[in-house]
Amino acid sequence: MDGKRWSYRNGEVYRVTVGKNWDILEIEPNSSSLLNEAWLLKEEIHQKENLLKQKWGFFAQMYHNAEKMWCIDSKTRDRVGFVAVQEDGYIFFIAVDMSRRGEGVGTHLIDSLGGKYDHISCHVRTTNIVALDFYGKIGFKKEELVRRYYEDRGDAFYLVYFPELE
Ligand SMILES: CC(C)(COP(=O)(O)OP(=O)(O)OC[C@H]1O[C@@H](n2cnc3c(N)ncnc32)[C@H](O)[C@@H]1OP(=O)(O)O)[C@@H](O)C(=O)NCCC(=O)NCCS
Repeated sequence: MDGKRWSYRNGEVYRVTVGKNWDILEIEPNSSSLLNEAWLLKEEIHQKENLLKQKWGFFAQMYHNAEKMWCIDSKTRDRVGFVAVQEDGYIFFIAVDMSRRGEGVGTHLIDSLGGKYDHISCHVRTTNIVALDFYGKIGFKKEELVRRYYEDRGDAFYLVYFPELE
C-alpha cells in the first residue's frame, strides 16, 4: 500500500511516497539536491542518444527552480529517473536510466504529478518518436507545432495533458 513519509538528509527535507515497486522522492523548488546525479543521467543520455542537449548553466538553474520527483527502485534503492516541473505544470525535463526503460518508470513519474496540477505540458522534439509515443500513451495531446524551438533550430510539438480527464 502506498504511504507518505518525511525523510531528512544533509539538513534538507524530502517527501517520500512509498509504493509497491517504486518510491517517489520529492524535492521542493529552490533546492539543488541531486543536481549532480541528474546531470550525470542527462549527459549519459545526451552522449548515447543525442537527446537532451541543454548546457550546464541553464540545466542547473532550471533544475534548482523546479519541483523534482525522483523515482527510486523500492528493492535496490537505485535512482532510476526523474522529472522536473515548473510551478505552472510545465515539464522542463524527464529522463529514465537507459537500462530501466519500458518498466513504467516514466509513467509513474507523470502519475506522481497528477494530483498537483490541473494540466501538465511540455515541448518534445518532433524527431523524438519514443517520447512522443510515451506522452501520447499517457494522454498528452499535440497542441501546436513550434518551428525552430530549439537552439539548434530543431522543431518541437507543444503537448498538453489534463490528468483529471483521464
Ligand atoms: C521517454 C522516457 C522518459 C520514457 O520512459 P519509460 O520509463 O521507458 O516509459 P514507460 O515504461 O512508462 O512507457 C510507457 C509507454 O511509452 C511508450 N514507450 C516507451 N518506450 C518506448 C519505445 N522505446 N518505443 C515506443 N514506445 C515507447 C509505450 O507506449 C509504453 O507503454 P507500453 O510499455 O505499455 O508499451 C524515456 O524513454 C527517456 O528517458 N527518454 C530519453 C529522454 C527523453 O527523451 N525525454 C523526453 C524529452 S521531452
